[in-house]
Amino acid sequence: MTALKNDRFLRALLRESVDTTPIWMMRQAGRYLPEYRETRAKAGDFLSLCRNTEFACEVTLQPLRRYDLDAAILFSDILTVPDALGLGLYFETGEGPKFKKTIRTEKDIQDLPKINAQTDLDYVMNAVTAIRSALGGSVPLIGFSGSPWTLATYMIEGGSSKDYRYTKEMLYKTPELLHTLLDHLADAVIDYLNAQVEAGAQAIQIFDSWGGALAHREYIDFSLNYMQKIVNGLIREKDGRRIPVILFTKGGGQWLDVMLDTGADAFGLDWTTRLDEARKLVNGRAALQGNLDPATLYGSTQTIERAVKLMLDDAYANGEKTGYVANLGHGITQWVNPDMPKIFVDTVHEYSAKYL
Ligand code: CP3
Repeated sequence: MTALKNDRFLRALLRESVDTTPIWMMRQAGRYLPEYRETRAKAGDFLSLCRNTEFACEVTLQPLRRYDLDAAILFSDILTVPDALGLGLYFETGEGPKFKKTIRTEKDIQDLPKINAQTDLDYVMNAVTAIRSALGGSVPLIGFSGSPWTLATYMIEGGSSKDYRYTKEMLYKTPELLHTLLDHLADAVIDYLNAQVEAGAQAIQIFDSWGGALAHREYIDFSLNYMQKIVNGLIREKDGRRIPVILFTKGGGQWLDVMLDTGADAFGLDWTTRLDEARKLVNGRAALQGNLDPATLYGSTQTIERAVKLMLDDAYANGEKTGYVANLGHGITQWVNPDMPKIFVDTVHEYSAKYL
């Protein structure tokens, strides 16, 4: 196994000393890059891009060629798991993801198969292996999954949703049904993430993109509880190195205290949380990641630099010298000018040195 040349991302997650703040961007491979759109056109469509090892590997590396990023993230999607569960994922242009089948009844849930990630999602594992080899130890590779709650919203609604009408109806009318589904998904996610680790993923992020739609107690019972099950079931060390796990609940900044109890290594924050206050609260017990508003990248060089410096001032306000990974507070959007992320990335590396 080749030694890692740049391991500051893994070191920061484990609160070990770093020379400068590591940075990656959620959804760093995507439509804002003309080279991504070109590869997607060659593949035919988004799902074919995910399923083709060579193309998935190529788009993973594209943002790393443009920017001095400290981690790569597997190119895939969180919805590959429901697809493998037989729901039939497809994308309609301009409308986001959709499923041919929805999960709304007890029978729907009972009929869900048990997946074997190694075989049912072999194209994801092939991509992980190929990307790891193409990276040649330059930076670590992040594997990922959706949280059970976030996956369940797509499976129950049949696609994206603003109000989670059917999911919340199930939650409040037949909570035990939803629990059965979430438990099934947690098992599938554990299997899926461990297969990614076996294939070469060096850190894991769980995207709980819609956890913030829940009320406090429902967040604990229906989202955090199942992320806890996943954290407990994950391979946490491989080839003598810890595999850090990051939980990202969008809109979950106010729940950091309960999230800490899961024993995850790090927590992602969106831009609605005060980073200085969050660092104080966590007080060296875990690492934090985030939290620049992705819309900041619509600004000018000057406004981006200013926002990034203020974010770093907050990140290190409590005097800690590590335990922080710079990132956006949610995925980069397709409307970002591809020249602007460079300003974000370079400002993080240059300005943070004064705190380390
Ligand atoms: O970060 C990366 O570069 C890796 C790739 C990645 C994708 N999706 C590629 C993608 C990751 C980590 C995801 C996760 C994902 N997918 C999440 C969680 C992260 C988040 O943003 O909250 C969610 C909720 C999804 C579901 C999903 N996939 C949606 C809602 C959409 C359509 C809307 C959109 O943003 O485009 C997708 C499609 C998708 N996944 C695209 C990409 C690059 C765009 C598809 C295209 O090329 O047309």
